[in-house]
Amino acid sequence: MRCRGQTKSAIEEAAAILRSGGLVAIPTETVYGLAADACDDAAVAKIFEAKGRPSFNPLISHVADAEMARGLVVFSPLAEKLAAAFWPGPLTLVLPRRTTSPLSHLTTAGLETAAVRAPAHPLAQAVIAAVGRPLAAPSANRSGMVSPTTAAHVAGGLGDRVDLVLDGGACVIGLESAIVYVEGDAATLLRPGGLARADIEAVIGAPLDRVQDQKNAENQSRPSAPGMLKSHYAPAAALRLDVEEARKSEVALLFGAPSPAHDAHPYAIQLSAAGDLREAAARLFAAMREADALCASETLSGIAVAPIPNTGLGEAINDRLTRAAAPRHGFAAGADSTHKSVDPQS
Ligand code: TXA
Ligand code: MG
Repeated sequence: MRCRGQTKSAIEEAAAILRSGGLVAIPTETVYGLAADACDDAAVAKIFEAKGRPSFNPLISHVADAEMARGLVVFSPLAEKLAAAFWPGPLTLVLPRRTTSPLSHLTTAGLETAAVRAPAHPLAQAVIAAVGRPLAAPSANRSGMVSPTTAAHVAGGLGDRVDLVLDGGACVIGLESAIVYVEGDAATLLRPGGLARADIEAVIGAPLDRVQDQKNAENQSRPSAPGMLKSHYAPAAALRLDVEEARKSEVALLFGAPSPAHDAHPYAIQLSAAGDLREAAARLFAAMREADALCASETLSGIAVAPIPNTGLGEAINDRLTRAAAPRHGFAAGADSTHKSVDPQS
């Protein structure tokens, strides 16, 4: 696996690899994506293989803008309004697939809908422009693992499974996009993400329903929404949530000014001393990796996470933490192979 920076020749090389059916990890403002030509069945199949991801879990197609997306999916007036308000940016729209859509059916996992997003990172935009086609890209991690927010995370997780990694620095948002399903004039939040619910609701002018995991769990073989399995974004260490005072034998993942007890904690990692949810979101995945490594090297009992308010980006932070803390299925040892044999998450 090779890693290159933001030069013109690196972008050209990335585009050439993608056009010939290869895989390139690209930075976006949310997390790094593992990209392939979204219209090329064989290329998209390589994504599933590299991630160890079940092929019934659909991928997001990354586009330059709404115009490119209109060739793939059908926009209702509400969908147009959301794209106009938030693209390029951390919002994914799930919309009806156009009958003439060139997207690979592997990208959409045979569904009648497709997920589309225009990323804001200039390097992602440059690659899409150079290829001139939509790029299917899940987060560039092995299925079920913590999403990567640096090029080094990608290299560590995927290694030689990816042809090239473009290094665009640390992701500024650090959480995956919010996913909204739009059906005519109705919108549903499928995954809280790097765009706060309140910002989306302000544009819609109505509260946004959230599809709950429980409801989806009944329909696991054919997900209509992401977030099916509770266990996801999994570090190896055990997580305890909403912990006011971490034990000395744990890593303390802190949010806000530390209490006197935590001041002296030997293994404290701060998400945001100022109690800033944006800062905490941007640091979350790197902090989880750091905490995990500390647990292993110091043989600690687990990670204790401070309470995090559920407002703004806190909804997505708590969603990821809850998944990380959930009992493990699938890729972890001792999986029930008939049922949740692999985490269908990304
Ligand atoms: O920020 C992000 O969204 C990152 C960057 C790379 O863009 N991508 C990302 O992709 O998080 P991934 O594959 O890790 O998560 C995409 C989620 C999956 O849970 C998948 O089930 C859901 O989107 N999804 C994709 N197409 C869908 C569809 N047609 N209907 C419902 N859910 C869909
Ligand atoms: Mg993912």
